[in-house]
Amino acid sequence: MGKLWSGRFDKNSSKLLDIFNASLPFDKILYEEDIKGSIAHATMLASQGILTQKEADLICDGLKQIKDEIKEGKFTFDIGDEDIHMSIEKRLIELIGEIGGKLHTARSRNDQVALDFRLYVLKSNKVIMELIKDLIKTLHTLALPHTSTLMPGMTHLQHAQPINFAYHLMAYISMFLRDFKRFEFSSIENSVLPLGCAALAGTPHPIDRQKTAQLLGFEKVSLNCLDTVSDRDFALEILFNISTLLMHISRLSEELILWSSAEFGFVTFSDEYSTGSSIMPQKKNPDIPELLRGKTGRVYGNLIGLLTVLKGLPLAYNKDMQEDKEGVFDSVDTAVISLKILSASLLTLTINEEAMLKACKIGHLSATDLADYLVSKCNIPFRQAHHITGRAVLVAEKKGCDLSELSYEELKEVDSRIKPEVSELLTLSSSMNARNSQGGTSSKRTKEQLDFVKNWLSEN
Ligand code: ARG
Repeated sequence: MGKLWSGRFDKNSSKLLDIFNASLPFDKILYEEDIKGSIAHATMLASQGILTQKEADLICDGLKQIKDEIKEGKFTFDIGDEDIHMSIEKRLIELIGEIGGKLHTARSRNDQVALDFRLYVLKSNKVIMELIKDLIKTLHTLALPHTSTLMPGMTHLQHAQPINFAYHLMAYISMFLRDFKRFEFSSIENSVLPLGCAALAGTPHPIDRQKTAQLLGFEKVSLNCLDTVSDRDFALEILFNISTLLMHISRLSEELILWSSAEFGFVTFSDEYSTGSSIMPQKKNPDIPELLRGKTGRVYGNLIGLLTVLKGLPLAYNKDMQEDKEGVFDSVDTAVISLKILSASLLTLTINEEAMLKACKIGHLSATDLADYLVSKCNIPFRQAHHITGRAVLVAEKKGCDLSELSYEELKEVDSRIKPEVSELLTLSSSMNARNSQGGTSSKRTKEQLDFVKNWLSEN
């Protein structure tokens, strides 16, 4: 059988055109979506009397057989068929004869591909949401025992204030909670049926799009056919959502890389999730977080790629739009493997509490506490308190110790209004627990945040 559209051509297409024009090598993964859409379409056509029930049954049985053939690797893909839609339709006609040719009534590949791709994106949203949930669960488990484990909180990558390790992980959990919601929102907003728009202008056949939507589980039917066949916003959304997810993963990866260095030593990756060097026998490298950080670049590229493809396109379908798929498939695959390996490697991570504590003793982490003390107990304006504390830090620097290690007598020399009670306030754990405002780092507030996540996990 030749090409399904060969009627108005005298000559066959060139082999080079077939290769260049085809999306089959990558869009064949849409076969399940394509068959699902076709079965719904044929069912609707029969219920509208456009096909007889017998014809629709024949078509649906044929489609199911094709699905099995593809699943079992028995289907012969021919690049000359251009894409998965034509491949399946051609095989259907081979299998059941001319009646197979009735399936494409009131349909174009333009609304067909818009449907298949949307179904794929919606399915992928769900898969990614499940994996984000697993990651949140992993981080929650990792955080639970560490609400009193002190570590230096940083700004400008300089020691700033003491926090606890669970609180730091909670910051990442918060990012992943937002990511989850972004995918969820996009799934709800994009539950819109494209099928039935035909080429661009709708169809004269008496179709029932509401019925097709219901058969495929869509909430709504799209509003305007011209827009629908040109719309790839759903694809841009998954690309953006994956980009933001990977950006968060990349920031966590960057910290894991730093933390596993000799300079920090806060965490140790298990052997299962570390790599060696080909020349330096002693090396143990954090390849996983480095690769996660690196993959972010390609994922951003996929987003910018599709935005660029779409920006100058006139309505409606243009062949440029065939370039929408590979980047999305690649970003989805990247998100899936990234989430899986991140969760798995975090589960076997060793947390080195002593190294974190040791780091807390560098950098006068309780300086803000001294300033806050001067404000609340000595009624000194904050700007002045800031200056007095700066003098105390200088004393500690000159002595070669941490601010928290200065004696009351030494502090009194800096400012006579300081009382002995200050020593207790400057310890690292009271400094951490003093930040007890809502969303703060105190063990109590951190536990509150972890409880929120526990409830979220049980509800989602
Ligand atoms: N393979 C095409 C794509 O992926 C399907 C749509 C083709 N439509 C057309 N009018 N040529 O975009």
